[in-house]
Amino acid sequence: MASILNEEQFNYWDGEAGAIWVEHQQQLDQLLTPFTDDSIASLGSIEGRRVLDLGCGCGDSSIKLAAAGAQVLGIDLSRPMLAQANHRVQNSANPTFLHADGAVFNSEHEFDVLYSRFGSMFFKDPVVAFTNLKEALCRGGEIRLVCWQAPSFNPWMSVGGRAIASFVPEMEAPRDPRAPGPFAFSDPDYVRSILASSGFTDVSLTPVTQSLRVAADLETAVAFQLVIGPAARAFKTLPKDSVKMATQALKDALAPFETSTGVVMEGAVWLVSGKT
Ligand SMILES: C[S@@+](CC[C@H](N)C(=O)[O-])C[C@H]1O[C@@H](n2cnc3c(N)ncnc32)[C@H](O)[C@@H]1O
Repeated sequence: MASILNEEQFNYWDGEAGAIWVEHQQQLDQLLTPFTDDSIASLGSIEGRRVLDLGCGCGDSSIKLAAAGAQVLGIDLSRPMLAQANHRVQNSANPTFLHADGAVFNSEHEFDVLYSRFGSMFFKDPVVAFTNLKEALCRGGEIRLVCWQAPSFNPWMSVGGRAIASFVPEMEAPRDPRAPGPFAFSDPDYVRSILASSGFTDVSLTPVTQSLRVAADLETAVAFQLVIGPAARAFKTLPKDSVKMATQALKDALAPFETSTGVVMEGAVWLVSGKT
């Protein structure tokens, strides 16, 4: 067992969340492709560069970085997701994958690039983690993170949750927006301060918005929202007698986004860059 600092996230991603991501791997990768392509293109030529893919999950970005010519090591907390990544590459020499917590990952080799597609926002203490990860980079190395902007800029994740909010029992305390989770890095000033405190320079955040094909049709979009993301989490807390009405409310909220090519909704991220 690798050394783990982020115990809570380990339990989450190695357990329930990892199983869901493995089951829906193809759908998630297809959904996230526009951001994968944008972020890899933003690195320019990566032929022969050594890339550390943080929170690589089921390996999609690692596979694409390797296909673009990089030498890639993907690290992740989730053993089921890494098993899926290894299954996809059939134990090829590139990319390779390692079970590790980025906060305490200790590399024998230096990397030119620290990359992450939605795998960097889950650290209990992000400064500790990024200070450690910087040690894995060579002089003149660079960082490229893809992180979600705020929920209001991401209808594909917020519309469903809002639609069923009135059926959900009120939470006792509002959630800390910077707590580990998909939106923890949505505030650009916070991200700049984390990376500057971790020793990175030239930190900049570029906003990118894309149309995302959430599902082939409305039924699939509803089913998808019920297993993954904020609506799914809210759904779990519903009283039994509200489930039918909440599902209908979710369907009504997603219906306006159904097009002839599927259910299409906007997603917005920050492409975060910096140097060592
Ligand atoms: C939202 S998923 C994204 C997975 C993958 N990058 C993708 O885009 O399909 C977040 C990933 O970050 C990983 N993760 C969370 N905290 C981590 C940590 N401290 N060290 C390494 N990986 C971590 C999770 O196990 C999970 O695979």
